[in-house]
Amino acid sequence: MNLVYCACVFSVVFCVKFVYSSDLTQMEALYSNLFSLYNRKLFPLFNHNNTVKISVDAGLVNINNFDELSGEMHLALIFDIRWLDERLKWVPSHYGGKSTLLVPPGDIWFPQLYVIESFDVIQEISNTSVMIRLYSSGEIVWKFGKVVKLVCSVDVTYFPFDTQTCSIKISGWAYIVSEVMLYTNTSVVHTDYYSPNSQWDLQSSIMRNLSSTTNDLPPLVDILLTLKRRNEFHVVYIITSLVSLGTLGNFVFIMPASSGERTSVAITTFLSFIVFMEMVNSNVPESSSPMAYIYYYLLFLLIYSSAILFLCIVSLRIYSKQADIPEVVNRLVVCLRFWDLCRTKRSCRNARLRNATVLSKKSHESVNRNDNKRENEMILETPKLSWKQVGETFDGYCFLVTSLIFLFMTSISMFRLYNNFGL
Ligand SMILES: *[C@@H]1O[C@H](CO)[C@@H](O)[C@H](O)[C@H]1NC(C)=O
Ligand SMILES: *[C@@H]1O[C@H](CO)[C@@H](O)[C@H](O)[C@H]1NC(C)=O
Repeated sequence: MNLVYCACVFSVVFCVKFVYSSDLTQMEALYSNLFSLYNRKLFPLFNHNNTVKISVDAGLVNINNFDELSGEMHLALIFDIRWLDERLKWVPSHYGGKSTLLVPPGDIWFPQLYVIESFDVIQEISNTSVMIRLYSSGEIVWKFGKVVKLVCSVDVTYFPFDTQTCSIKISGWAYIVSEVMLYTNTSVVHTDYYSPNSQWDLQSSIMRNLSSTTNDLPPLVDILLTLKRRNEFHVVYIITSLVSLGTLGNFVFIMPASSGERTSVAITTFLSFIVFMEMVNSNVPESSSPMAYIYYYLLFLLIYSSAILFLCIVSLRIYSKQADIPEVVNRLVVCLRFWDLCRTKRSCRNARLRNATVLSKKSHESVNRNDNKRENEMILETPKLSWKQVGETFDGYCFLVTSLIFLFMTSISMFRLYNNFGL
């Protein structure tokens, strides 16, 4: 009884041990069969006149950092690189149905790919600490993530409504097209794991085959990312402030000249523009080719506010003049004050109507003739104006002209910036 029991336990233990060890030995056999004669320095081909076809797919995880001033950009990307290794095929049924295997990259041949637009150092697209998956068909899949530091030249012409296109060229420098062919199966970058950036929106992405057919060039795959700036901050912070300051700027002309505050307000506006210029400066790359259009708008605002300051001073001098008004100036100002003329005309007509009712007994013709004559006299005779009236007229026209210029320039600039519409 005891003996039977012992035999049972022994056989169970033996069976379990045998099954386990047979699985382990199968895997060991597979590994040694695959790798005992494997030379990882050679291309994964039996016939070395053939080409290794490598597919590269990429996914964008996030835009870590994009420094517009230096053009430096850090992208977290995930890569999915696949190729076929003819030397690493096996029949799964010979090895307990095992059809896939993970190996460290150091054990097998893997392609050396680089990012051409690297920042700082040329970076290899690989991560040797991430295992590679083999399939019994010889297919090899290597998926890993990498933070790529690259250079993307920034075109700030339409700041803050600009869109940037960054190119990431992945190349096998060491190879020529007849040895290694790089291609991509998808035409876009995957965004399954993408987390949006606070400053840039990913508008679109393109993946392209760029390999030329010329034999001695390296194989290439190109990724194009189109990023649109999220401009809410700049619109609120810069554009709105600039436009409202500019709008306020010419209201100095409707301030009473006697208040004595005009020039100080004008100077304050002028200085505010200079402060804003500094603020824009810290947000826009100091690039001259091409220069950001917003600088031209700022330049206009500076000229505009210095012109307002100048006109203010001229206007104050007009108010403070004591001497008689020269005839030419008087005439000119009377012409400019056409609303006075209208008022005179209207008051004449009113007077005439009143006269007509009062003197209804007299003959209409004579009254009319007299009135017409008087009216004509009043219009022809240029009234004498005071310097205060000249100043008021000057202010009125300054306000009108500067407002029109400001409105015109602002709408043109904003239209052009917003629609990315060149000169
Ligand atoms: C490779 O991946 C590991 C994690 O699997 C990570 O710690 C390491 O930083 C990566 N190396 C490079 C060069 O990206
Ligand atoms: C790139 O080339 C490969 C092979 O020639 C093709 O299968 C693939 O569709 C191409 N990819 C694109 C995005 O055109």
